[in-house]
Amino acid sequence: MANVVVTGGAGFLGSRLARELLAAGSVDVAGGGARPLARVTIIDQSPVPADLAADERVAVIRGDLGDLLDRALAGGHPPADGHPLAGANLIFHLAAAVSGECEADFDLGMRANLRATQALLASCRALGTNPVVVYASSVAVFGASGEHPLPAVVDDDTLPNPQSSYGVQKVIGEHLLADYTRKGFLRGRAVRLPTVSVRPGRPNGAATGFLSGIIREPLAGERVVCPVEPRTGAALISPARAIDGLLCAATSSGQAWGGRSAVILPALTVTVAEMVAALEQVGGPEASALIDWVPDPVVTRLMMSWPARIRAGRAQRLGLTPDPDIGSIIRMHLTESGH
Ligand SMILES: NC(=O)c1ccc[n+]([C@@H]2O[C@H](COP(=O)([O-])OP(=O)(O)OC[C@H]3O[C@@H](n4cnc5c(N)ncnc54)[C@H](O)[C@@H]3O)[C@@H](O)[C@H]2O)c1
Repeated sequence: MANVVVTGGAGFLGSRLARELLAAGSVDVAGGGARPLARVTIIDQSPVPADLAADERVAVIRGDLGDLLDRALAGGHPPADGHPLAGANLIFHLAAAVSGECEADFDLGMRANLRATQALLASCRALGTNPVVVYASSVAVFGASGEHPLPAVVDDDTLPNPQSSYGVQKVIGEHLLADYTRKGFLRGRAVRLPTVSVRPGRPNGAATGFLSGIIREPLAGERVVCPVEPRTGAALISPARAIDGLLCAATSSGQAWGGRSAVILPALTVTVAEMVAALEQVGGPEASALIDWVPDPVVTRLMMSWPARIRAGRAQRLGLTPDPDIGSIIRMHLTESGH
């Protein structure tokens, strides 16, 4: 039986991932063959969507991940029944504070992204069952600095050089995951996600949030601010393909996954101008007229430091592909949001 934990399972990607797992009813853990899904435990400080909470296979643990796990570990005994991770053989670690929040509140990022990840890894070690741990990292681990410019195309071998607290916390998490894997405490799979767009719902605190907002808000008839110039490039992935990437990390055999270092997911390269042109094709010029162009130096600096062109060799060898074009991403958003 598969016993899955999703940290951050009340969030955008976590709730979508939990729904896909529950709909499938089984999951192949690291190439060992499909196992029926016994339980999905969602650990999150935010309330879990009602449809997930209502599923009898879902257990919800509400609270701060680091606090919960530190308290559970404090006894010094191996996790038993009642421990948040008891019996887990597959763990998706998605709980995190997002990039803009971590720039604005350094302590929040250290607590939510670093301390909570350390507590999760220590708890996985204490399980003693070598679980598969899929870690949602980010292309924000890359960056450009004076002594270390960003290459024109970023690939799996590009040296991380984070230029934000969020990126630093993610790359530390990757390295810890790799070391716990090397020591045989768990089987870690770090996935570097490009910006996921179009994100449904309300705007969030991510510096890249506008890459969803400039599509989502005008299509809903609302004004939105674009904080960067039209020529700014970005690497995007649709929600559906982001989930495909996380599931691929969970289900691939160790040999197919191919090592302890992180895997970048394939991304579509677009400029903001191309996104707005695609928006106009769907919503007409009245949609793009709802965008207010108000440059923000902080967002512009972060965007310029992140890669827009990605060669995702390892992911493509695993069968993952980028979205074909921005139009298809917008149509997917319209269908899913019931327009
Ligand atoms: N969405 C993207 O564009 C994107 C891009 C790159 C990486 N990622 C990574 O993917 C993961 C999921 O992203 P998302 O867009 O679904 O984010 P989200 O903000 O929608 O969800 C994150 C969830 O984690 C929870 N959380 C945060 N800190 C917590 C804590 N200390 N204890 C318990 N719960 C906590 C939040 O309540 C939230 O429900 C994150 O790790 C994020 O860094 C996302």
